[in-house]
Amino acid sequence: MPFSFARAICYNRDIMKILVTGASGLLGHAVAVAARASHRVVAQYLRNAPGGLPGALRLDLTDGAAVRAAFAETAPACVMHCAAMADPAGCERERDRAKAINVEATRLLARLCSEHDARLVFISTDLVFDGRRGMYVEEDPVNPVSYYGETKALAEKAVRGECPNHVIARCCLMYGRSPTGGRGADEVMLHALREGKEVRLFTDEYRTPVCVPDLARALVRLAEAAATGTFHCGGGERVSRYDFGLKICRAAGVDSSRIMATRIEEAQCVPPRAPDVSLDSSKLKSALGVSLLDVDGGLKLLYHSDA
Ligand SMILES: NC(=O)c1ccc[n+]([C@@H]2O[C@H](COP(=O)([O-])OP(=O)(O)OC[C@H]3O[C@@H](n4cnc5c(N)ncnc54)[C@H](OP(=O)(O)O)[C@@H]3O)[C@@H](O)[C@H]2O)c1
Repeated sequence: MPFSFARAICYNRDIMKILVTGASGLLGHAVAVAARASHRVVAQYLRNAPGGLPGALRLDLTDGAAVRAAFAETAPACVMHCAAMADPAGCERERDRAKAINVEATRLLARLCSEHDARLVFISTDLVFDGRRGMYVEEDPVNPVSYYGETKALAEKAVRGECPNHVIARCCLMYGRSPTGGRGADEVMLHALREGKEVRLFTDEYRTPVCVPDLARALVRLAEAAATGTFHCGGGERVSRYDFGLKICRAAGVDSSRIMATRIEEAQCVPPRAPDVSLDSSKLKSALGVSLLDVDGGLKLLYHSDA
């Protein structure tokens, strides 16, 4: 079992109709696949039709009228909202587009969920924190240092304001197989190494990385649970980006000699790097009996099993 599952906790075991947004993305695709095991899934995408998810719905979530119409027609009992502009550098460059999809589309989905009595699981990020301390708990104040983090913090506020039956799942750096082959943190790094490039990784940047199929199953549990509010969904280990890179190479059997150790202050990062946005996810475990894999466990699942 990738995560532990406490028997005392009450889950809705009825088959739900779940709208999974961003099903062509790294996380959304895995969520749609995991949810399909026990629910009816409508998978939404925009530009890249997702493989293996027949009947996927092409929809621009920034087109309010189209979203309203699609929502009324689909009538989901739950929306798992994974779509976003999730690239911090892109959000910095294209602020209007980032705000439209990350904030305004989320606000509309939250409003529609409330109007139609649907549950909303909104995917947020560790980057709502400034990273000056690390091992953040849900009650810690947010203070994003990037525009991406700012949009997600604004979206969280909109979700809380619009939709009482919500879960905000703050997730961390994700690794795993993406439909495009280039979104997982491991995929990006291994691709560069295989092309013979040097990869510089920070020894002073810490995260609690999450293995995507493990996270996806935990998020489906959050969709099924009765609990509402904010949950940190970090992996079971706080690790530097440098050590994480070495572990990925070991698991994938790839030579790590072109990984160079560096420090944040030696790089000109735009947007600035939040040094330690590791998350304390003990609430997820105590409230729902769910804990996510550590890095070795996640890499074993990805590189040494059929999952
Ligand atoms: N990746 C990470 O390490 C990480 C870490 C923490 C939190 N998160 C959060 O996790 C969620 C998923 O991230 P991800 O990395 O899986 O993203 P991703 O791979 O970049 O996928 C983004 C998805 O959003 C869809 N999308 C973008 N703009 C859209 C629009 N205007 N209308 C409809 N769909 C649109 C894309 O559709 P098309 O491709 O079809 O255009 C794609 O399916 C996001 O909320 C992100 O903020 C990610």
